[in-house]
Amino acid sequence: KPIHILNGPNLNLLGTREPEVYGSMSLADIEQACTAHARDLGFSIVFRQSNHEGELIDWLHDANVNASAIVFNPGAYTHTSVALHDAVRAIEPPVIEVHLSQTAAREAFRHHSYIASAARGSITGLGLNSYLLGITAAAGCIETQ
Ligand code: DQA
Repeated sequence: KPIHILNGPNLNLLGTREPEVYGSMSLADIEQACTAHARDLGFSIVFRQSNHEGELIDWLHDANVNASAIVFNPGAYTHTSVALHDAVRAIEPPVIEVHLSQTAAREAFRHHSYIASAARGSITGLGLNSYLLGITAAAGCIETQ
């Protein structure tokens, strides 16, 4: 089964959105790098982005059936969503939480993650490398399952 990479709100604007915080890569650039890295590890990926909390929940439920692991950047819902926390808890495949920016070094409202306590692990602050390391971690979880 593929690794599902799920992206939350505003991540469709990467490249033009606060490049000093999030870098100059577009989400399509990140997808391309993720596809190549996963392929090197012997995995295919499904890469998705939504600005809607309910759609992300539906995709976590879909991943429960169709993914071997999930790399998840919930965007700002990280800091607000009990529903996404519950969805991550409710599903079987390991979920690796990733963030481009170092949320602990930013505004206080970004310091708490509702996802971290439900996720297998979290990788934060490393830009594209957060995603690539997330894929490596996901592959490791799958192999030791
Ligand atoms: C983010 C961090 C969140 O605080 C923010 O709301 C985002 C992106 C990141 O990848 O750094 O939208 O998840």
